[in-house]
Amino acid sequence: MVIDMKKEFSTCPEAIDESRLFGFSWMEFVAGIPSPLVLVTGYKENGKPNASMQSWTSFVGSGGYYCIFGSVNKNTHMYASVQQTKQLVINFPDKDNFLKCMDTIQNNDYENDEVTMSGLTAEPASKVNAPRIRECFLNLECEYVWEKELFPGSEHVVMCVKVVNLCMDDAYYNNEKKGRYGDTGYLYNIRSLRNPETGETEEAAVGILQKYAVYDELKKEKESR
Ligand SMILES: Cc1cc2nc3c(=O)[nH]c(=O)nc-3n(C[C@H](O)[C@H](O)[C@H](O)COP(=O)(O)O)c2cc1C
Repeated sequence: MVIDMKKEFSTCPEAIDESRLFGFSWMEFVAGIPSPLVLVTGYKENGKPNASMQSWTSFVGSGGYYCIFGSVNKNTHMYASVQQTKQLVINFPDKDNFLKCMDTIQNNDYENDEVTMSGLTAEPASKVNAPRIRECFLNLECEYVWEKELFPGSEHVVMCVKVVNLCMDDAYYNNEKKGRYGDTGYLYNIRSLRNPETGETEEAAVGILQKYAVYDELKKEKESR
């Protein structure tokens, strides 16, 4: 198949009002690449549970299982908490508890137990000194490995953490029950998309993943040749 309608954009298109993007790149809203949505938990210096929504995340399974946070703001409680304890939990909500996870942003005061105030349950992690969220179907308990400024002088860092314990609701690794994908599984962050030609703007959204058995199809195609 030939794709013959490609258009190129290297500077912000006139149709997009960059001043309304709060410092984020216009490219992110045009490309619209979804990324996994997680709630990161740890303890603040005062011992209160902290919760931080993160979505510029990716996971690497080479020589251990690692999470690379692509952009952690240095001014957040999460950053301060990880600096102090070197430990954290990455919690994966499904769509039933997503809104409670979002509430942690409104309950972000230093003095707050952000987890309980948002209607979620903090329970101690098994292997690290951080709370984990009972309502989230997967909890990855992690230790800090390294960080680097996203670019020189950036307020954001790329941070690598190593998973030392995986705690998962069996209904999600059992495909006969809920499974990990579809309506009850992982959530993806979808920014408010922009059409670079018309400037048309969509609401921000949350995506779910549909499993596509492409390898079965390729095999069938080969066999039928
Ligand atoms: C959907 C969503 C995704 C987010 N992703 C990130 C992210 O990847 N990195 C980041 O620094 N902040 C991200 N934020 C913003 C933080 O969640 C927000 O600043 C939060 O209040 C920080 O909490 P804390 O101070 O308790 O760490 C995101 C917010 C939302 C709603």
